[in-house]
Amino acid sequence: MFDFLKKNKTLPTFAPLVTDMHCHLLPLVDDGSKSLEESLEVMATMKQCGFEEIRLTPHFNYPRFPNKADDIKERYKNFCSEVEANKGERQIPRMTSVTGEFQVGDGFAEYMESGQLLTYRFSDPKRGSEKGLLLIEFSLHQKLMGLEDTVFKLQMEGYDIILAHPERYPYFDSRDKLLEQFKEQGVYFQINILSLDGFYSDAAQKKAFEYIENGWIEFLGTDMHNVMYAQALRHASANKKIIKLLEKNEFENRHLAVGQY
Ligand SMILES: [Fe+2]
Repeated sequence: MFDFLKKNKTLPTFAPLVTDMHCHLLPLVDDGSKSLEESLEVMATMKQCGFEEIRLTPHFNYPRFPNKADDIKERYKNFCSEVEANKGERQIPRMTSVTGEFQVGDGFAEYMESGQLLTYRFSDPKRGSEKGLLLIEFSLHQKLMGLEDTVFKLQMEGYDIILAHPERYPYFDSRDKLLEQFKEQGVYFQINILSLDGFYSDAAQKKAFEYIENGWIEFLGTDMHNVMYAQALRHASANKKIIKLLEKNEFENRHLAVGQY
């Protein structure tokens, strides 16, 4: 038994999560990676930190990144071939889907009405609703009116919602009524791993730990954008509080099914 424990202790920090479900490594489609080489370098670091699998989630954010679902799927296909042809000796995680991080704001209704919301699913077919899990984000700058209406409407249409990085919105804290309401409505929350290491701000770091203590967090994501984020991930992987947190808490990352719908 002790050998078994010793063996597990040597696993990289994020191995228990298995899957990263939030990153921006499809080159040149948003503010993430700028090249194939940069993506490969970031992915190699993610693998060293313990991720076996990654899901790409480019921004769908009108008008800043007005991506189209069909174009993104096509680029993803080409990108997978380029990665295979160029990874060389590098060990990298498997890429198993491209979906998106959809910002609720201008243009969101259009994505919804034209059937462009890309989602993932739980691997257990009995879990989750009809249209799959949709990763959404809100504006980091201002609390827009009607967020609750949009979330409610999406749920009524058959989507499960994952709210990306609730700790990063300056207008929410752990006593916020709207966040409480979302939890009551069954909205999943995803914390950015780098928030736990203080990468964005002290406030985001504090809220990230509080929300996990509240039992509010089902997913952890890297929100990787580029090599600077990858260095920060490596730094986070040595953070004792984060290591402990991953030993004590289970997250849903590993229960996502392969592929998007
Ligand atoms: Fe993101």
